[in-house]
Amino acid sequence: MSPAILNFGSCNIDHVYTVEAFVSPGETLSTKTYDTFPGGKGFNQSIAIREAGGSCTHVGRVGKDGEWLKDLLSSLEINTDFLTVSTEPTGHAIIQINREGENAIITYGGANHTMTQSEIEFALEGRKETDFVLIQNEIKNVGYIIERAKKKGLQVAFNAAPINKGVEDYPLDVLDLLFLNEIEAEQLSGTTGSAEMIRVLSKRFPETKLIITLGGDGSIYHYKDETLKQIAIDAGQIVDTTGAGDAFVGTFLAYFVETGEAQEALMGAAKASAKCISRKGATNLLKNF
Ligand code: RIB
Repeated sequence: MSPAILNFGSCNIDHVYTVEAFVSPGETLSTKTYDTFPGGKGFNQSIAIREAGGSCTHVGRVGKDGEWLKDLLSSLEINTDFLTVSTEPTGHAIIQINREGENAIITYGGANHTMTQSEIEFALEGRKETDFVLIQNEIKNVGYIIERAKKKGLQVAFNAAPINKGVEDYPLDVLDLLFLNEIEAEQLSGTTGSAEMIRVLSKRFPETKLIITLGGDGSIYHYKDETLKQIAIDAGQIVDTTGAGDAFVGTFLAYFVETGEAQEALMGAAKASAKCISRKGATNLLKNF
């Protein structure tokens, strides 16, 4: 049986407004379209893992108003035994999509910020050493999850999105995989340009597989002496870039866990991102939503 991915991640209700241009300070904008979609970087990654054929357990919290997100994950054969219901409201995001398909996002953590250390311990209990833990930065206790999962001998992958100052305090040096977009890589390395960022980050995290996404310039995988590149796949019309990074991370990990082949994982992830940006909403599951 393939190793399982235990995804400690957020679930959000996304409120999406399509605008000509992002609202400016002091301006009131009226929009022509308003949609509600399931989202949250963790949720989006769980969907991407399943779409790529991976086995996924989603660990996190929703409020009563978000139980439908849990049902949606379950309906896709994602294990939700460790996705519990909080008295806090479900996390949510206010998302503007402009005419270029770019997004501007405000999030409210809500239930995502209520997962306790004992719930984390419970979810980590009895896992196999071949299993992977995936974490992104929209939940609390990220450093704790990294430490405890490593102590139990699991493989740990971290997506540093959305990056904040707290990321520097996590035990990043013990990670097996670290996913960064260009802005996150610039912040963490204190430099610019992919070659220079990789030089600095690989020196700082020599035992970590680095995966850096560069938007239209594709993506890079680096580990020890190996550097692999993947061009971005043409998405045709860019409709909505929300969730493209999440689709990339979940898909990459599902392929990598299954095959150990980073080049194949980069290619699969690039295709999933392209599909994601060619349509509305933060995941690729929403054709019939
Ligand atoms: O990465 C996209 C996601 O970021 C959205 O689904 C939104 O919920 C925010 O968490």
